[in-house]
Amino acid sequence: MSGPLIIAIDGPAAAGKGTLARRMAAELGLPYLDTGLLYRAVGRRVLDRAGDPRDATVATAEALALSPADLERQDLRTPEAALAASGVAAIPGVRAALLEFQRNFGRSRGAVLDGRDIGTVVFPDASVKFFITASPEARAQRRWLEMTAAGQAIPLAQVEAETRQRDKQDAERATAPMRPAEDALVLDTTALDANAAFVAVMAQLRSRLGALGVTIA
Ligand code: DC
Repeated sequence: MSGPLIIAIDGPAAAGKGTLARRMAAELGLPYLDTGLLYRAVGRRVLDRAGDPRDATVATAEALALSPADLERQDLRTPEAALAASGVAAIPGVRAALLEFQRNFGRSRGAVLDGRDIGTVVFPDASVKFFITASPEARAQRRWLEMTAAGQAIPLAQVEAETRQRDKQDAERATAPMRPAEDALVLDTTALDANAAFVAVMAQLRSRLGALGVTIA
């Protein structure tokens, strides 16, 4: 294998990829990038201007103006920000504006990145690619439990409807749609808790890296 270790983790909302990616990065001593946060921050900037996330001119301008401080905002994890993110993410100009940042992030020291198109577009040559999925019901239930625990009062049915809407938008858009890369390792976490999912991906990672002649602790 040549170049730094890049691990791509794609999949739909609330499949557990963020938790897995963060833990994997800590285990391997690699930097971690949650690329969804970039789209959420662009979506937020558009909402701040009372703009429509589907407006290509406005959304592209906000993506080009994105600054590190935007990523520190405390309001990026709301359902409103998630839907706005999914809206701006369908715009080619937005995706192009965020591409170099993601590539540069991984270039020097390697990285674990999670998102929707890491293995297909951002790093098509990633060392190892995962596609983490779970049933829409299980994903909505997990997200709802997280939100309820954080004190947000929201009906489960609403979380499930928004999850399905985002899945559809993210998978059906023309530019960089969410889909597993041909060489991705697909893991369905519907019946797994976070720990079991981590054990499963680490076993797959070791085996894939072993085949490339790379051993990890
Ligand atoms: O991973 P997340 O739920 O924070 O992502 C929010 C939205 O951003 C998601 O619905 C689609 C978009 N996204 C994307 O299109 N490509 C990425 N690499 C990451 C996120």
